[in-house]
Amino acid sequence: MAVSLVVLKEAGGETRVAATPETVKKLTALGVSMTVEAGAGAQSGFADASYQAEGATITSDAAGSVKTADIVFGVKAPSADIVGVMKKDALLVAQLNPYQSEAAVKTYAAQGIQAMAMELMPRITRAQSMDVLSSQSNLSGYKAVLDATAEFNRALPMMMTAAGTVPAARVFVMGAGVAGLQAIATAKRLGAIVSATDVRRAAAEQVESLGGSFVMVEADDDDSGETEGGYAKEMSEDYQKRQAALVAEHIAKQDIVICTALIPGRPAPELVSTAMVEAMRPGSVIVDLAAEQGGNCKLSKLGEVSEHNGVKLVAHENVPGRLAGNASELYARNLLNFILAFFDAEEKALALDWEDEIITGIGLTRDGAVVHPALAPAGEQADAEPKGDA
Ligand code: NAI
Repeated sequence: MAVSLVVLKEAGGETRVAATPETVKKLTALGVSMTVEAGAGAQSGFADASYQAEGATITSDAAGSVKTADIVFGVKAPSADIVGVMKKDALLVAQLNPYQSEAAVKTYAAQGIQAMAMELMPRITRAQSMDVLSSQSNLSGYKAVLDATAEFNRALPMMMTAAGTVPAARVFVMGAGVAGLQAIATAKRLGAIVSATDVRRAAAEQVESLGGSFVMVEADDDDSGETEGGYAKEMSEDYQKRQAALVAEHIAKQDIVICTALIPGRPAPELVSTAMVEAMRPGSVIVDLAAEQGGNCKLSKLGEVSEHNGVKLVAHENVPGRLAGNASELYARNLLNFILAFFDAEEKALALDWEDEIITGIGLTRDGAVVHPALAPAGEQADAEPKGDA
């Protein structure tokens, strides 16, 4: 029997889809029997007929198809109704938000399925093509700059006109990871004067290579600001104070601030205080990409464009979903690459290796139990951060 895979239509305002006609074609060529829920790609610009043309069956009865599916693809976690009909050992592949979804994870275990949380993908070279956080953050960084320009009542590039000179806008990017670096590149392309900050010292060179200037306080002793996995650490209180003082001075001169700073498994660090916002010129714009994790600015209101003292605070939800076409294409390829890495082409069967660090990194449940080290019962807690060699 061919491996069967169902692609779900997302709910709750999610605009993205977990497979595109391109990935359906590739999976079909491998011998996978593909079923796509009707309308799944509509908001990303992929019509049912375009999936059908590449070999997929379209269904309006997702639950019916899921009952016999070996693999279920989603962008976010599916509804309890869908999980409840999945067959034992079936593979659920989506961004399952496990640290905030304890009850759902228990249900995956109870259902006997193998749940894979794609956002926990280890940051190792071999897994780069499966890294959904990177593929989506990159688009968020780009869109954040466009969202800022849309709210900003001035231009970004310097313009010399007969009526006088329009000065270049100053853009400050906080957090120079994947999203931040793309925001820097985008703002530079639009002609802004760009600066950025990060706690990871390694970020300085990357910022400068994109034409941005790096703003950073000296670390405590030899601290690189990052963990072995290449992620930011929570910094000391003294460091945070010195960082705040430097940022306060710098931010008052900025027109646009793009906040992207995150610490895995923790709330976003608060970097832009109310006093800092009040020191900015009216008409300035802050885009808070960290809003879903609590925000780098406590004044940002998730899902809204609000205003404080004439400064606009942009805190859209699901920013990659605002570029659903590209976001779905890249996300779908991440999922395809994951399946390709664990597919036996000769046997035309899945070959999951539970010893592989990719599977142990993202696998939440197996054989009726929660097996992910970071979700294991209290007392057996391991580091929640994915490992990486970056
Ligand atoms: P992230 O989304 O977790 O955080 C965004 C940025 O915020 C990071 O650069 C982080 O250092 C910074 N940050 C955290 N706290 C801060 C604070 N208090 N002040 C200023 N900045 C702060 O990070 P992301 O974008 O996922 O990347 C993390 C690292 O992983 C980077 O070094 C990146 O290059 C690396 N990476 C490696 C990959 C691989 O497969 N080898 C793939 C993707 C990223």
